[in-house]
Amino acid sequence: MDRTEYLQRLEAAPSLEPDRQEYFMDQLKTLVLQKSRELGRPMTACIQTFGCQMNAKDSEKLLGILEQAGFKASEDEASDFVLYNTCTVRDNANQRVYGRLGYLNNLKKKNPNMIIALCGCMMQEPTVVEKIKKSYRFVDLIFGTHNIFKLAELLFTRYFEKQMIIDVWDGTDKIVENLPAERKYSFKSGVNIMYGCNNFCSYCIVPYVRGRERSRNPEDIIKEIEALVADGVVEVMLLGQNVNSYGKTLETPMTFAELLKRVAKIEGLERIRFMTSHPKDLSDELIAVMRDCPKICRHLHLPLQSGSSRILKQMNRVYNKEQYLALAKKIQTEIPDLSLTTDIIVGFPGEMEEDFEETLDVVRKVRFDSAFTFIYSKRTGTPAAAMENQVPEEVVKPRFDRLLKEVQKISAERCSKDVGKTMTALVEGMDDHDPSMVTGRLSNNIMVHFPGDASDIGTLLTVRLLESRGFYYIGERIS
Ligand code: SAH
Ligand code: SF4
Ligand code: F3S
Repeated sequence: MDRTEYLQRLEAAPSLEPDRQEYFMDQLKTLVLQKSRELGRPMTACIQTFGCQMNAKDSEKLLGILEQAGFKASEDEASDFVLYNTCTVRDNANQRVYGRLGYLNNLKKKNPNMIIALCGCMMQEPTVVEKIKKSYRFVDLIFGTHNIFKLAELLFTRYFEKQMIIDVWDGTDKIVENLPAERKYSFKSGVNIMYGCNNFCSYCIVPYVRGRERSRNPEDIIKEIEALVADGVVEVMLLGQNVNSYGKTLETPMTFAELLKRVAKIEGLERIRFMTSHPKDLSDELIAVMRDCPKICRHLHLPLQSGSSRILKQMNRVYNKEQYLALAKKIQTEIPDLSLTTDIIVGFPGEMEEDFEETLDVVRKVRFDSAFTFIYSKRTGTPAAAMENQVPEEVVKPRFDRLLKEVQKISAERCSKDVGKTMTALVEGMDDHDPSMVTGRLSNNIMVHFPGDASDIGTLLTVRLLESRGFYYIGERIS
């Protein structure tokens, strides 16, 4: 394909989506096959994913596009096309990407045909894109979170326009559906139910890089899950930054609890999970649906962020310590076998020793089954970044260590309470350390290791929990 031909094909592209991308996947495939023939081997593509489940899901879509366009998926970064799907929620996520770009540059020197692309949340920040334009000239393609569906078009273009291509959108109101996806697991899958976030917690960059909240139509969600089930999926994870506000802006509004009830009716689907719930709008209706529907897993992730009402207010979380405690108690009473997990930030601007003690107090009262603990990271452009009283690292670090110790102690105690019980596990893979064992996930999200082989992967088995190892179990199979 030469440049004239390329321009003709560009000209002939349909303007409507997803037809336009189907067209570009075909065009790209012609090119990829041609290059493969020249090289005498398949063209490979490698995606590295940073960050949360949203990004993991996006990467499956991106890989689906690449495979349809003729690339062979590879785990090896010495590939013909390498894509970093980035995260910017905390600064260390950004630093990891910059660190690895240097390594990619070395690989590219060995393979001049290599195309390096960056996408995801970091790319939505203009300062990041400026930095890459200036100091990482070897990057070929940059796009954002709102236009991942355009990968085939962008990459096709890059093969002919020999310069860095940047296409980052500020926001979007469109949801492009029905493009291919390459699932990482055959038996479980994430399913987006909404995109973006409107909560603007004062420390958080997600609303700026993921845009405003948009819910998908329930019919599209159900159809996607039905297709997944037909393809062997038994467990789905419904994804959104705040699933509890699902459906509020739909033409025919619908609550998240109603959506769950509809999803639970899908025959052949065995397990339903969801992430994440914001405490401010977790309804009694949702608690009741969780309690009454056995397909909904016994796990709720309910980020606390801080136990201090004063700090929660500064964080714009819209609930206080007492409200969180009351909510946690209600959930634990209604669903006693539920495992409650959380996220906590230490060192938010202005956090005093008394505030931190309040966080410890909530941790001790609620007794979380597990908790992700984070050191506050200043994100440019967020209100908290402009607050004056940033807490110095030497104050934050000891607090973080104290919290971690408390969280781990409680989580080990919680985990031991179920020893001797019989539960169902979905086998996810082989044990990394012992080839005679498999690892399975319990409904409450805790892992159990027990004897088995590769043929068990993807099946639901009954196991007895023999021993707790702090945050996972050793078990024996009953069925
Ligand atoms: N939408 C989800 C969270 C997404 S980000 C929710 O509200 O629950 C995942 C976690 O990262 C957050 O719960 C928070 O604990 C943490 N986090 C977000 N911004 C952060 C920052 N600037 N510094 C440290 N941790 C942060
Ligand atoms: Fe960030 Fe808050 Fe939105 Fe979660 S709810 S993504 S913490 S702004
Ligand atoms: Fe990171 Fe973006 Fe998720 S910033 S946590 S990958 S939404």
